[in-house]
Amino acid sequence: MKRYRYPSIPESEVTPPELFESRRRVLRGGLLLGAAAVAPGLLWPRNVTAWQGELQRQLDAGLPTVDLAGGEAPTSFRDITTYNNFYELGTGKRDPEIYAHQIVTDPWSLTIDGEVDKAGTFALEDILKHQDLEERIYRLRCVEAWSKVVPWTGFPLAELLKRHEPTSRARYVVFESIHDPDRLRGQRRSVLDWPYREVLRIDEAMHPLTLMAVGLYGESLPNQSGAPIRLVVPWKYGFKSIKSVVRITLVEERPLSSWEERNPEEYGFYANVNPEVDHPRWSQARERRIGESGRRETLMFNGYAEEVAHLYSDLDLQRHY
Ligand code: MTE
Repeated sequence: MKRYRYPSIPESEVTPPELFESRRRVLRGGLLLGAAAVAPGLLWPRNVTAWQGELQRQLDAGLPTVDLAGGEAPTSFRDITTYNNFYELGTGKRDPEIYAHQIVTDPWSLTIDGEVDKAGTFALEDILKHQDLEERIYRLRCVEAWSKVVPWTGFPLAELLKRHEPTSRARYVVFESIHDPDRLRGQRRSVLDWPYREVLRIDEAMHPLTLMAVGLYGESLPNQSGAPIRLVVPWKYGFKSIKSVVRITLVEERPLSSWEERNPEEYGFYANVNPEVDHPRWSQARERRIGESGRRETLMFNGYAEEVAHLYSDLDLQRHY
């Protein structure tokens, strides 16, 4: 497997989050004055699509691509975006595409809080301005035994977390998705205890393969794929890769994730892809690649064992699934 490049951020490039905030306030203030003087509503649309502008600027400049799917061709854009799990929009595989418009992604901000020295709520465009994006091709293996190869656009979560300076008490990272039951049809049913919540150990969150994705196939993420920003943890079952993230909280004690809370026997905390540990209701030894006929062998840690097996060397993987 090709090695990935993990860019380190020089201290000089790290802008304290409070600077992002003050700059945003200035921008907003200027815009409001302008809008009042010219025509309200004419200028607002530019403001509300600010993160898309920032993303497009980086996409236009061209991004480095890192193939971490062993040279395998990515699944088609159509298959990636029409066969989805996004229970906020319904439990059918086509529901996320059909009801994608129910997710309002502009404006979008991300709260980073808990055990960090630099907590706050940050506009997505300000976060993107300080992140170099790259394209990474990863396998995605769902716990339901289907899989895809996806060319994500994103940045390592570690870079974002480091900017916010985790304290020595930060042992777990908790992620929360959008909560908007007035608009999201799936959140009016109690399939899960909304909002969708996921949890990683801090060393898993800091691993260079752990990505925050904002695009796929060189475009911004379609809503059904978790717009505008989602987590991608390629060695774990897909349910850990939480979509449409609004909050990241660093904590000392581990809370339950949504699926673990729903059914801990079926959806363990680790959820590492493991062909030798079956789901109570089906085998995990093989999988169906969307867009292909037949089944293929599932790989240990979804093919990323070389990079991540050491994280679990002291765990009995049959018990800690
Ligand atoms: N995130 C949220 N917020 N809601 C969800 O229902 N489903 C998960 C994960 N992230 C889900 C989510 C599951 S089970 C999988 S397999 C992947 O998203 C699917 O990602 P995809 O639809 O982009 O293939």
